[in-house]
Amino acid sequence: MTVVLAIDQGTSGTKAVVVDSGGAVLTIAEAELRPRYGDGGLVEQDPGQLLESVLDTGRRAVATAGRPIDVVALANQGETVLAWDPVTGTPLSDAVVWQDRRAESVCAELSEHADRIAARTGLVLDSYFSAPKMAWLRRNVTTEGVVTTSDTWLLHQLTGEFVTDAATASRSLLTDIDTADWAPDLLDLFGLGDERLPRIVACDEVIGTTSAFGGRIPVAGLIVDQQAALLAEGCIDAGEAKCTFGTGAFLLANTGATAVRSTSGLTSSVAWRARGATPYCVDGQVYTAASAIRWIRDLGFIESAADLDSVAAAESDGTLCVPALAGLAAPWWRPDATATFSGMTLSTRPGHLVLAVLQGIAAQVATLCDLVATDLGSPLTRLRADGGLTRSRTLMQAQADLAQMPVDIYPSAHATPLGAAALARLAMNPGLTLRDAVGAWQPSAVYEPRWSADRAQTFRSTWTAVAETVVRKGDLT
Ligand code: G3P
Repeated sequence: MTVVLAIDQGTSGTKAVVVDSGGAVLTIAEAELRPRYGDGGLVEQDPGQLLESVLDTGRRAVATAGRPIDVVALANQGETVLAWDPVTGTPLSDAVVWQDRRAESVCAELSEHADRIAARTGLVLDSYFSAPKMAWLRRNVTTEGVVTTSDTWLLHQLTGEFVTDAATASRSLLTDIDTADWAPDLLDLFGLGDERLPRIVACDEVIGTTSAFGGRIPVAGLIVDQQAALLAEGCIDAGEAKCTFGTGAFLLANTGATAVRSTSGLTSSVAWRARGATPYCVDGQVYTAASAIRWIRDLGFIESAADLDSVAAAESDGTLCVPALAGLAAPWWRPDATATFSGMTLSTRPGHLVLAVLQGIAAQVATLCDLVATDLGSPLTRLRADGGLTRSRTLMQAQADLAQMPVDIYPSAHATPLGAAALARLAMNPGLTLRDAVGAWQPSAVYEPRWSADRAQTFRSTWTAVAETVVRKGDLT
């Protein structure tokens, strides 16, 4: 029996779950986080709040679990970075969130190296990834201490260790994708050659112990959140794909032992390192999904995400939305892109705008499905989906309609911590296989396409034309 405290430290909140050895969730504790938005694409978080949310949710979950905890697992945001003092652990900067676009200038300076960087890392030279933000922090905030992703800082606070996992490191633009190790030439390129870097560990490795949640408990099961959900949803074989509809929407497809160099504008990274193997995945990103919903809520179109289905119009009136509120990622890679509504008339109601935002998210994910199919060399036949926004029937139906494939809804709202928990169980049980640690699941709902292929094609062509105008507008400014 291995009872895991699995903590998902995400962008919009932190969630701690206690999971038994069969993967059943015993207790949950959550804390909401609100990033700060500002001019120039600033998206920041207070590191103290991140840590406090980890400690608070973890302790609350443990207090109500009624069982001793055997191991603590941590899933992290992936590309959010901060500077901190490695002796005292004190933050020396705010956490610069993955959505932050201020490091665009760093990427622009290195643009002549973009092809080499892509070939070495599997990623695209974009401010989304860790290295440009690390370089930006060094130039603009502090040259003191260390600059790392948020997981390394949190793990140092919990255990005193200085580590990151192979999947998180592979999101940095600083690792060679084939070896999944730091690449000195890339560190030099970003001006980070003198940085002290964390040790890269396997996702199923015990990296130390913590007494933050009572007793002295091993810490294992470290992974970037999207890959955690990929594992939880059982995407273990090449070709299996999931989309997590969280703060952003992230489509990942397992590519097995091959680190694909995408020919279609996607990125490649380590899926996980466990049981001595390092499988890879391709991924495409929609930077604003739940954060676009939060935006329409703050504008007053809905009171909460629970209202989406009742407020969204049943049919579009021709209004289209490209919800590029924090730029566009794959395949456009335009951090400077801004959101657009088009096709509105005097009869357009708030419900049409809400529907347009949902269809805009689904259209972006449908585009990513096509691109993943190109990289895999065969079409996706089904899409697994998790995350808070899967509760919107309107969004999930739009997803099935626009991607023209069934969407299987993961039955738990906790895919990310469950993936981290599976890795922690592997760490604690040497005889356990990856497949057994994950277990089987049945979808809680299946959305079949209701639109004809022609209708989906017509909508997507029109929507893509609007997206192209968003990109062209960026070219002109
Ligand atoms: O790459 C960023 C992504 O992993 C963040 O996930 O759950 O915080 O939206 P989330």
